[in-house]
Amino acid sequence: MLQQLETHYEDALKQLETITSSDNLHDWEIQFLGRKGVITEMLRSTGKLPAEDRASFGKRANEIKNLLTDAHTQRAALIEQQELAADLEEGQIDISLPGRARPVGGLHPSTQTLRLYAHVWGEMGFQVFRSRDVETDEYNFQLLNFPPHHPAREMQDTFYTNKPDVILRTQTSPGQIRAMQELGDNGTKPIRVILPGMCYRHEQITARSEVQFHQVEGLAVGRNIRMTDLKGTIAEFARRMYGNDVQVRFRASYFPFTEPSMEVDAECFLCGGTGCRVCKYTGWLEISGAGMVHPNVLRNGGYDPSVWSGFAFGMGPERATMLKHGITDIRYFWGNDLRFLEQF
Ligand code: DAH
Repeated sequence: MLQQLETHYEDALKQLETITSSDNLHDWEIQFLGRKGVITEMLRSTGKLPAEDRASFGKRANEIKNLLTDAHTQRAALIEQQELAADLEEGQIDISLPGRARPVGGLHPSTQTLRLYAHVWGEMGFQVFRSRDVETDEYNFQLLNFPPHHPAREMQDTFYTNKPDVILRTQTSPGQIRAMQELGDNGTKPIRVILPGMCYRHEQITARSEVQFHQVEGLAVGRNIRMTDLKGTIAEFARRMYGNDVQVRFRASYFPFTEPSMEVDAECFLCGGTGCRVCKYTGWLEISGAGMVHPNVLRNGGYDPSVWSGFAFGMGPERATMLKHGITDIRYFWGNDLRFLEQF
């Protein structure tokens, strides 16, 4: 049996030398040193030997077990080193390679137009006043002089929420009331603001109408503001936006919160007024709704309409962006299609 033991020992050492992976090393360990391994089995059978041989066999078997355990440890260290070296070799990074450029994001075309509006109005002394997207029926309609069943509400199909009275704003005009209440100091201070923001209408989505779109509202309140101030201010805005000699015209219109009310056209910036497809051969493009703030609205904002007056306007940046870039379908704006967005 001793002879057998020595053979196993030599065999084990020989095999160990050929092992180059930790997986194979693990198999080797099980085969020789495991609970049912060759050497372990031999040690266990010591009892079967004649009494006088047991001590020397047991001693040698233990010795061999220790020798093999040491040899295993050494081999394991060697293999680990080799595997690490191989890993490093394989995963080497060539730091001289040029980096991969990250695509740079761009501003959404609506954002670009909104920023341009804010810039131009800012130069003319109008500060941005931010108002909420979620409004009440009271602010969105009633305080703006739309009584509960007023027909003008029909043009603005509303998104209602589960909370009675809480709606998504259909226009930025409710911000007029909030600006007057928050900045007016109980109707004692003048105001000059623009109110840009998203509006929501429960409409059939088509190439011309979306359920969400931006508006840029404007509001000026003061002691001596007249219709001529409104006309001059809008004309100046149009010149700054579209060029120094652009003509504007004002058409009578109706909004519940202004009196008188009007719509403002600017000379078509594409054809210069001679007529083209963009202006539908009229020579004019509508750029704004506008009017003198209705006395009821001034009152709702905390002002005494016999002392204070004001003008307001409302513009649609998506429409302006479509005209400028020849975009024929408003659905592109919120379609998140990079092929569209990357063009701006
Ligand atoms: N709120 C109007 C709309 O959504 C736009 C508008 C028109 C705003 C005239 C105004 C204004 O401030 O004076 O149709």
